[in-house]
Amino acid sequence: MSLYSESIFPGFYDAVVERSPITPHRAPFLTDARGTVLELGAGSGLNLRHYPPSISKLIAVDPSRGMLKRLAPRTKSLAFQVETIASDACPLPLPDHSVDTVISFLTLCSVKDLPTVLRECHRVLRPDGRFLFFEHGIHPKPCIAKWQHRFNPIQSRLFAGCQLHINPANELEAAGFTIQDLDNFQLTREFPTHGWIYRGTAIPQA
Ligand SMILES: C[S@@+](CC[C@H](N)C(=O)[O-])C[C@H]1O[C@@H](n2cnc3c(N)ncnc32)[C@H](O)[C@@H]1O
Repeated sequence: MSLYSESIFPGFYDAVVERSPITPHRAPFLTDARGTVLELGAGSGLNLRHYPPSISKLIAVDPSRGMLKRLAPRTKSLAFQVETIASDACPLPLPDHSVDTVISFLTLCSVKDLPTVLRECHRVLRPDGRFLFFEHGIHPKPCIAKWQHRFNPIQSRLFAGCQLHINPANELEAAGFTIQDLDNFQLTREFPTHGWIYRGTAIPQA
């Protein structure tokens, strides 16, 4: 991790994303979280206050100590226990079939070895568990997708490895999940290159 991604990016991310049109989407998306929840790339913990108090436990995984430093105070006064794992989820230090819900919120875009990380999520999910995702990704219009490819190098530098041209649904299917539902929409007040959203549920194939 570079000095930028550990010291400057976490504060920049917090300030920009907390005030962005993404925030109103957090609570409705998280209402379906159940039981033991693993948040992949929990970052600075912007989701924490939006989880339903009924979940039994949250396991927050993130390799960035700068992000986790910001997450720590946000774990106070929650109705559920929070366990933090400072790791890149490759591998996940969790037993097979030990998690009811995996949450991925704007995370898959910045994971380097995505196939391995998604296979790890598949391994730790219970057979009846669910992988809930809210991700930005590749736009269906080729003229916009072309600009996503063009912007990608600068996006990746400024946003700690974030890629604009991922197709989260395809990545999940390639890792052994079935897409149960998928909703694509454009975030308000965001460029189509950066705000084309994939929100849905994936279930592990046997
Ligand atoms: C854009 S932030 C999203 C943070 C948070 N989910 C949110 O809703 O604000 C992406 C996070 O994914 C984390 N990340 C990147 N690679 C990862 C990996 N291999 N395993 C787990 N987390 C990872 C980054 O450190 C970063 O904190």
